[in-house]
Amino acid sequence: MALEFLAALARWGVGAGGLNTKLRTAGGPGGTGGKAERRDDDCTADPDNDPVMDLPKTLPASWYRSAPLYALERRAVFLKAWYLLGPVTRFLPDEPVRYEIAQVRLCASRGAGGLRDVSVVDEDTGLPLRSYITSSGLVFSTISGDAPSFVEFFPDLEPLLARVDFTRLPHRRSIRYEGKFNWKTMVDGYQECLHCQYTHPSFSVNYPPTFYSVSNHCNFSQHIADPAKPDDGLFLYFFPNCTLNVYGGGMSSFRVCPTTEPGVTRMEFDYYHVADGAEFESYFAFVRQVAQEDFELCEKAQANLEQGVYVEGVLNPDKETGVAFYQQQVLKLVVAQHEADKQRAGLMREAGPMPVRDGAGRHALCVQKATA
Ligand SMILES: [Fe+2]
Repeated sequence: MALEFLAALARWGVGAGGLNTKLRTAGGPGGTGGKAERRDDDCTADPDNDPVMDLPKTLPASWYRSAPLYALERRAVFLKAWYLLGPVTRFLPDEPVRYEIAQVRLCASRGAGGLRDVSVVDEDTGLPLRSYITSSGLVFSTISGDAPSFVEFFPDLEPLLARVDFTRLPHRRSIRYEGKFNWKTMVDGYQECLHCQYTHPSFSVNYPPTFYSVSNHCNFSQHIADPAKPDDGLFLYFFPNCTLNVYGGGMSSFRVCPTTEPGVTRMEFDYYHVADGAEFESYFAFVRQVAQEDFELCEKAQANLEQGVYVEGVLNPDKETGVAFYQQQVLKLVVAQHEADKQRAGLMREAGPMPVRDGAGRHALCVQKATA
């Protein structure tokens, strides 16, 4: 299957999808162009029996650099989602933790009722936001009233998480910084490990890609580096932009926070470890190395997306199912939002201009007549 796939790619002159495709387009190393399109001079190809056309496709490159598209994504995806804020150990008495997700500022704080007494408010309105704590100790929150219930959003998450105790590691450090890439550029890379062997040499020594697998569920993906070690090399992706990573002896979570500029994203990391001091610093150096390698990869991939040469690629049907899974979800939600917006605009056009009323609730026309 893999050889057939590679042969098809070579015949059609396309790269694999996700970060791999974007890096091979103009401006990137070894650029071949990533558009899944038949060449006019290729007489051997049969368009009716085209293996590439049956492969999952990436989102269009324009979706990684368009401000209006992000405005649509914000309403379609972000305002309707649940976010991992961290395990309960992230929250200490009298130390509120602040977040900004899709331009909504929220504050989570722990009350006097113990580890699981965590509540979340919208910092701008002061109103409470719906939050949920799993039996395994993870705190999730909404950022708007548009989100469904937690169980509707993650119907099969709790039974899977119940196998791991996420509360055994204390919070040690948090860092945040901006990068020049779209939020999806980072999630694309997270959701596959084809890039791991050449981008993360130190990671690949301990977590070789041989057994790496991804399983997709409703609004989350589970990555396992080695089935023989299910509690080490466990990576969870929560749609659309949160992760939880248990490897290297510690645990980290990060949020890929979109800014109003589509090509700029704020990365927020939280680190947990049973030890502090030198043991923690050794773990921290190891995982920061991996994060820095991903950061550089994403900035290069985004630079190629900005060139306007790469339009669309195909995804590896075996190794990039995680990318296809989340991108299809974004596509579905954005298209549905766009249709709903169009219908609403159509209804408003049919209804005609809204009547202007004065302070007493009288139509402007009536006021004119009354004062004439
Ligand atoms: Fe990576």
